[in-house]
Amino acid sequence: MAVNERALLDTQHAFDGVAADYDRSNSENPRLCAMRERVLAEVTRRVPRGRILDLGRGPGADDEALAQEGYDVTAVDWSPAMVAQARGRIAAAGLADRVDVRHLGIHQLDELPVGGFDAACSNFGPLNCVPDLREAARLIADRLVPNGVLIASVIGRVCPWEIALYLARGQVDRARVRFSADAVPVPLNGRTVWTRYYSPAQFERAFRGAGFARVSLRALGLCAPPPYLTGFAERHRRLTGALLRLDDLVGRWPGLRMWGDHFLIVLRKA
Ligand SMILES: C[S@@+](CC[C@H](N)C(=O)[O-])C[C@H]1O[C@@H](n2cnc3c(N)ncnc32)[C@H](O)[C@@H]1O
Repeated sequence: MAVNERALLDTQHAFDGVAADYDRSNSENPRLCAMRERVLAEVTRRVPRGRILDLGRGPGADDEALAQEGYDVTAVDWSPAMVAQARGRIAAAGLADRVDVRHLGIHQLDELPVGGFDAACSNFGPLNCVPDLREAARLIADRLVPNGVLIASVIGRVCPWEIALYLARGQVDRARVRFSADAVPVPLNGRTVWTRYYSPAQFERAFRGAGFARVSLRALGLCAPPPYLTGFAERHRRLTGALLRLDDLVGRWPGLRMWGDHFLIVLRKA
């Protein structure tokens, strides 16, 4: 089996394994909820109405919110267990007429109509899992109308908190993981998610080749601790709240916006 195919299957199995509990664990994490709010706010700000393609939708929190705002959503995910969770959630919310849930990888987007969407969004790193970002950019560009936008939160390369944490523990190799040029095997519940880390400039370059130009960029989780540092955030609730607010203040500043646990980027197709 080709390396990319093996990696895609590993990643699929890893997300299948966490699908049943993913929504609960995410919605109990205030830093993840804060990030999600900011991504959704960017979608509603940039796309007043229309058809949205959600890439790597997981169990469907964003799609339920977007459908309730009046958007028509097509939501794809590579994990069949995530798709099953999403279908259940959308049916229970009575939104099946507004949200079309498909079991489809981002690398398989050519199964969807060309020019069928006003915007695409992707939250919490599904685009970090595709084997070929340039090819994904081309597939996404083809699905969008002219001037269509992509709004994506992407796992970044330089997360100051993570670097400081692992260097303080003397784990230099772990502190450098995000700088790897290749896909990295990230453990998830005993399985592996193959993850490629991007700086905003690398990500933007891949999409520029498909005709996109940057509209905006901000850091997520720059001053605030990354979502997985739950112990710290619980011990220092007020400090963490203040750091989240500081992120909103400085996260768009040139020189800072390329760092952080994730970055939130908006690209427009020419
Ligand atoms: C960290 S979760 C994010 C889920 C969701 N967007 C959210 O905001 O909660 C990453 C999701 O990307 C999906 N994924 C990973 N690789 C993918 C691929 N090649 N194509 C489509 N989805 C993929 C996973 O199955 C998983 O549901």
